[in-house]
Amino acid sequence: MSDNIENAPHWKEDFPIERTEATKVSRRDFARFLCLVSGGLVAGSAYVAVKANFFPEKEIEGEHFVCKADSVPVGGTQSFVIPGSTIPYILIRLENGNWRAYEQKCTHLSCAVYYKPGSGQVVCPCHEGFFDAMTGEVLAGPPPRPLPALEVILKNEDVYVKAAKSQTT
Ligand code: FES
Repeated sequence: MSDNIENAPHWKEDFPIERTEATKVSRRDFARFLCLVSGGLVAGSAYVAVKANFFPEKEIEGEHFVCKADSVPVGGTQSFVIPGSTIPYILIRLENGNWRAYEQKCTHLSCAVYYKPGSGQVVCPCHEGFFDAMTGEVLAGPPPRPLPALEVILKNEDVYVKAAKSQTT
């Protein structure tokens, strides 16, 4: 044995691999890694496409209680999810006295949108998308469609939502 090995720590006798060998990545290994990652992305995209096309989210049926009206100040919002669904919604109490409820996912790339108090606009911070808070229509930016809306129903002091008429017809 050489001096180097004799003076080396004991574990080096069991793993006599130099650092340069251990960190070297061959072209073949790199290509294999790229194929694996690409395959994963293709499989993930296919899963999302199949799920969206063949297993769409169930339409909302009936009315759903959201909150007490006095728990949302004028110009304020309340996030909620309807039982049995995973879609996030935002309830908005507009300054003009109207209530609105929209999906809280931007129609561009699904970022969470928020209501900007006093502006009458729902904003997507990701790519500066703007929606009309009264109608859900796109005002500016890249979103291709209006925000999907729910109908808001007030019963005394309780706020309910149900599928908007335009969604069910
Ligand atoms: S995700 Fe909303 S504007 Fe791009």
